[in-house]
Amino acid sequence: MEKLEQLYEGKAKKIYKTEDPDVVWLEYKDDATAFNGLKKGTIEGKGSLNNLISAHFFQMLEEKGITTHFVKLINDREMLCKDVKIVLVEVVTRNIAAGSLAKRIGYEEGTVLPLPIVEFYYKDDELGDPLINNYHIKILDLATPEQLAKMEEMALKINEILVGYLKDKRVTLVDFKLEFGIHKGEIILADEISPDTCRFWDADTKEKLDKDRFRRDLGNVEDAYKEILKRLTGQN
Ligand code: C5P
Repeated sequence: MEKLEQLYEGKAKKIYKTEDPDVVWLEYKDDATAFNGLKKGTIEGKGSLNNLISAHFFQMLEEKGITTHFVKLINDREMLCKDVKIVLVEVVTRNIAAGSLAKRIGYEEGTVLPLPIVEFYYKDDELGDPLINNYHIKILDLATPEQLAKMEEMALKINEILVGYLKDKRVTLVDFKLEFGIHKGEIILADEISPDTCRFWDADTKEKLDKDRFRRDLGNVEDAYKEILKRLTGQN
């Protein structure tokens, strides 16, 4: 497979064409942004860590019956994925109150929710990815009701799988954001699952092992991402 012209450059990844129209080449970058691009930086090694962490999660989820865009790893920083049309709805699932939810409903960060919450956000940088519901999604024509129901169902299933899987690795899954794409008419899991898009807390110490270390200037960002890869794969 050959890497052809660049199709897109996002905040965390570049996407290239390949000679197969159904397959794209993803390159993960070390660039880090937060607060809708207001805070910018570089986390050394982040690109390869997130590529390897995402590949690990995608492979594990595929084995459990979740269809993802992942095709195969090319090297530490790059993977091949199915070409998808990204649905402009970001799906956030939460098990513990943190971040914007803690602020919005006045819960102390760390409060365990009695059941998972699924939220939808409009994937639009200019608008700052606002929280939306099924009515907004219908009016904005972002997804059909069937597609939305499928994304919600998949998010809850993925949550269940990830919570159990991570518990064994002594990691608590606080919350995470998923993006879905349409491939050959079907909704499949796309984008990435990494410390950039999830809140991971050490199950014993509650130490943050995710992008909150960058957002909140807590230091040791790269070490936290490395720790997640190590817990998942045993790799350093
Ligand atoms: O900021 P907030 O509490 O709403 O984030 C919820 C979850 O979604 C966190 O795990 C965060 O890392 C992720 N997220 C993301 N991309 C965004 C917004 C949130 O990956 N644009």
